[in-house]
Amino acid sequence: MTEWDRNDPASYDAAARGTAELEVSGTDIIGPVVRDGLTSTPKTLPPFLFYDAVGSGLFEKITKLPEYYPTRVERSILESRAGEIARMAISHAGRNVSVLELGAGSATKTQVLLRALVAEQGATTFLPADVSGAALDAAESRLARELPEVKVHPLLAAHPQALAAGRERDDALLVVFLGSSLGNYDEHSAIELLADIRATLGPTGSLLLGTDAVKPLDVLLPAYDDSKGVTASFNKNVLARINRELGGGFDLDRFGHVAVWNEELSRIEMHLESSVDQVVPIDDLGLEVAFEAKERIHTESSYKYDTARLDRMFSQAGLARECEFYDPEHWFRLTMARPA
Ligand code: AVI
Repeated sequence: MTEWDRNDPASYDAAARGTAELEVSGTDIIGPVVRDGLTSTPKTLPPFLFYDAVGSGLFEKITKLPEYYPTRVERSILESRAGEIARMAISHAGRNVSVLELGAGSATKTQVLLRALVAEQGATTFLPADVSGAALDAAESRLARELPEVKVHPLLAAHPQALAAGRERDDALLVVFLGSSLGNYDEHSAIELLADIRATLGPTGSLLLGTDAVKPLDVLLPAYDDSKGVTASFNKNVLARINRELGGGFDLDRFGHVAVWNEELSRIEMHLESSVDQVVPIDDLGLEVAFEAKERIHTESSYKYDTARLDRMFSQAGLARECEFYDPEHWFRLTMARPA
């Protein structure tokens, strides 16, 4: 189903984060990825492995932590600017718009925007795309109750399939991609995804993109290394998952959660660091993985952008920025972009 690029952990994410609940489990699918990652130098594991049922629950907890500002701040920007965003999308389209959201989850933040669109145009259509059927069900039933003017057509799909479904429709689309999820892609994959979005927008569509901004390390680092250790458990769940699904023998106490800022690449990196020399068997793969003390597995990158960098990426994807919205501290931004 997927083309992996072993040198680019985020490309696993680009290809497969979205398919976690549909098909990314079991030896056949995650086995080759784990073997590849743990036999390469340096060792890597792709971030889509975080999101089994346990990991998705832990991520949900992360979004509610005081240290993890992105969810809270992005919601506050939406709450104050949704009307302007809705009017901008409608004015660019010259007619009513429908919303297609990538990785919608239960779409609680997007509900703010849907409400603004309903206020402007009386009703709207919402195409929430996700790989979790449970999250889509939750979104659909909550919206039916709380915002019945929104017609919901859930798409149980990864990003490429969801965008292809959007291209089949005649609606003027506002494609929404929130939560700084773009930041988990390496630049090449991110531009590819933006170009795929551009192809879906046609001449009348707009993109609303949520991205995280570069900021002081005393804010950034705790967001990825919280005081309750939820992010550490989220990171270590990758090893627990290999134990559960591939007969792995990882002792979670012999690995530490490490979050570091990579200044050159403008990204937070998460790693798992072996505290001792050890050899870990992974029975279902017939593999023994040797670690030296302090050796790390790179599990995630989370890019933080400035406007100039985003503009370059937009331009390479055939998009142009229309407008940016920030919180007062400029920690997070929502960007409206449209075909160049
Ligand atoms: C899903 N993604 C945008 C999160 C982020 O901030 O990069 C994943 C995450 N990793 C650790 N905490 C949250």
